[in-house]
Amino acid sequence: MRVGVLTGGGDCPGLNAVIRAIVRKGILNYNYEILGIFEGWKGLMKEDKIKPLSLVDVTGILHRGGTILRTSRTNPFKVENGVDTIKATLKKHNIDALIAIGGEDTLGVAAKLYQDGMKVVGVPKTIDNDVMGTDRTFGFDTALNIATEAIDRVHTTAEAHNRVMVVEVMGRHAGWIAIESGIAGGADIILIPEKITFVSNVCTLINRRHSRGKDFSIVVVAEGAKIKMSPDSQEEELVLQDKKLDAFGHVRLGGIGYKLAELIEAGTGFETRVVILGHIQRGGSPTAFDRVLATRFGVHAIDLVHNGQFGQMVALQGVKIVPYPLKDVVSRIKTIDPEMIETAEVFFG
Ligand code: F6P
Repeated sequence: MRVGVLTGGGDCPGLNAVIRAIVRKGILNYNYEILGIFEGWKGLMKEDKIKPLSLVDVTGILHRGGTILRTSRTNPFKVENGVDTIKATLKKHNIDALIAIGGEDTLGVAAKLYQDGMKVVGVPKTIDNDVMGTDRTFGFDTALNIATEAIDRVHTTAEAHNRVMVVEVMGRHAGWIAIESGIAGGADIILIPEKITFVSNVCTLINRRHSRGKDFSIVVVAEGAKIKMSPDSQEEELVLQDKKLDAFGHVRLGGIGYKLAELIEAGTGFETRVVILGHIQRGGSPTAFDRVLATRFGVHAIDLVHNGQFGQMVALQGVKIVPYPLKDVVSRIKTIDPEMIETAEVFFG
């Protein structure tokens, strides 16, 4: 059996751990040939982007961030003859099955290709933790720890200067990184995409906290958070870096921290500064949790291939890794549970 492996979408820590696990178990337990497909779906539509992966190729990569296979946000359904080209490439290289490691977009392509008759298995990755069917995606824990450490650091400088510090984190249209790093870092207010926040309330909460004798505040804002000036204002703001859409129809978020800081300073009179964590959240070495989860995902993904369970994604549910249908992952994202939001709100202001 010849199995192709690709990583698609934004990178995240733990991708190499999945690749290593697939190669190890595929070669040693099943005697498969594993083929690395470079730069995501693009690799199946170009020449020279497919190379066999040996045991030696995957030594020393467990702890490394990024992906040895590189990645891209290519959508084959947006490329002329994209799917036919993929089919031809798979045939040319005698690839019997494919493991696609990616987020909602990559897994959405995998689901469609499966419907089209291809033997595909998915592995959920993203720092955003927004993939349906799995309690956790790998990469999230690393991003969460980076954001928490940043909030801890910002705390001491905020306190020293009697400032409000706004920390903007990633997460696209889900607030997982914001809410969990905000709770872990003791943020005084957290803004997330799941709940519209009124700037007037943010200012009231900061004023309340400062009237109790505190001279600084920490505000965590998700890049996709929606804000309104006040309960009666019509306008809901989503701040974009760029209005252009990528191949999967996504806008580029980012910059809400600056807007919010301006409004907080104007509304409270307290000096306010901004920190945008950006891609730092996606870079570097994965945490132990992510290394273990990614390793388990990789091992179970090659098992799904071996058992002929195609059209499935590996998922963490409770403490177990289980198969989850790829078709149920598509066009929905997993957002934060209201109970988590209520818990965070106990500590606001
Ligand atoms: O999906 C992961 C993510 O890091 C989001 O949190 C963020 O909005 C986006 O990717 C950034 O994408 P890019 O790497 O293309 O700037």
